[in-house]
Amino acid sequence: MLAERNTYFRTVASAGSDFTQKRHQQALERCLDRLRRTMPVIGLRNPKIGLADNTWSYCGPYDWVVSFLAGQYWLALGLTGDPVFLNAARARRNVFRGILRNRDAQDHDLGFQYSLACVSDWLLTGDREPRDMALEAANVLLNRYHPEGRYIQAWNPRSVHGAFRPEFANGRVIADTMQNLALLYWAYNETARCDFKEAADGHAETTIANLVRPDGTSFHTFLFDPASGKPVRGETHQGHADNSCWSRGQAWMIHGFAQCAATTGNRTHLDTARRLAAKAEELMGDDRVPVWDYSVPEPKTDHRDSSAAAIMAAGLFILADIDEAEEAARWHDFGNRLLDGLLDTCDLTGDPDALGLLAHGAAHVKAGFADTMLPYGDYYFMEALMRSLGHRQFFW
Ligand code: GLY
Repeated sequence: MLAERNTYFRTVASAGSDFTQKRHQQALERCLDRLRRTMPVIGLRNPKIGLADNTWSYCGPYDWVVSFLAGQYWLALGLTGDPVFLNAARARRNVFRGILRNRDAQDHDLGFQYSLACVSDWLLTGDREPRDMALEAANVLLNRYHPEGRYIQAWNPRSVHGAFRPEFANGRVIADTMQNLALLYWAYNETARCDFKEAADGHAETTIANLVRPDGTSFHTFLFDPASGKPVRGETHQGHADNSCWSRGQAWMIHGFAQCAATTGNRTHLDTARRLAAKAEELMGDDRVPVWDYSVPEPKTDHRDSSAAAIMAAGLFILADIDEAEEAARWHDFGNRLLDGLLDTCDLTGDPDALGLLAHGAAHVKAGFADTMLPYGDYYFMEALMRSLGHRQFFW
């Protein structure tokens, strides 16, 4: 059954000009065409990161990015009702059954994985198995909550392959986790169990108090004493320096706090999303695709991160929906500026040989992964295009 498939992605009047709207509509259609055409090549694999010829290298079964292609298929299903997208998305369910069976594969990224692969399925089709899987994942996420420190532990000290990673030891909060709270808020709405909401609210408050700096920039990660739950210090993992501002981390938080504010109506979440967005706007100057870290010495010439632009654009459109009129126009214009930058400089949807949608993503610059396609950049690019066109219901 496809539940209300033609109305799920409800469209309301959007503030963009006719030219912008048409440009975004055409880009979205090219994304749908790209998804259809690459389906037979990709098969059941899930993209991890782009290769130099714009084909993909693929994930193992437990990668944090394993749900982003499924998420694009679910968006495409909601837009078109075409069963080809339903089949492609559903065919991946076994991957998500597998993560639930492997304790070492479970970390804070369960939110990305189960919101996009399972909550999506439940909302679009009414099938109860993915709903139950998403609730099980939400319970695991809840069990990572430190009640005294009021945070969700990000990574695991032991990798899924058994290696010990002392730098990932207990007591680390990261900016990215703000994206994973949606699974907890969804579980709260689904079950009326207050512990889901308390953990999501608590983690958001801890993030505001420690990861968001007074000037509106952000730490990528923050260490806590796992025994007492007390904050220790900020530290980067993928950014330029501990005290720098990694642009994707800032984008994860803009989208995350805007999404939390839209779900909870909490004014502090809204103010935090505004503060983070205003700082990113200031740090970008006249740029249209952010540099990978706002604090690098040569921001004009260093690597861009198209994924940060796409995530931030989607978040700004959420913010535009919930903020007061004057500010709403500011966030809408900023979101459109980012999308224009992506369409002018990173769009691969016109390149017949590319398997993905966007070039110039920066996965982890210091580890050598830059100027590449990224599946999360592609997912948020579609979400941002849809939000700019007035779609208002997603899987978070
Ligand atoms: N969540 C991991 C990353 O943004 O690279």
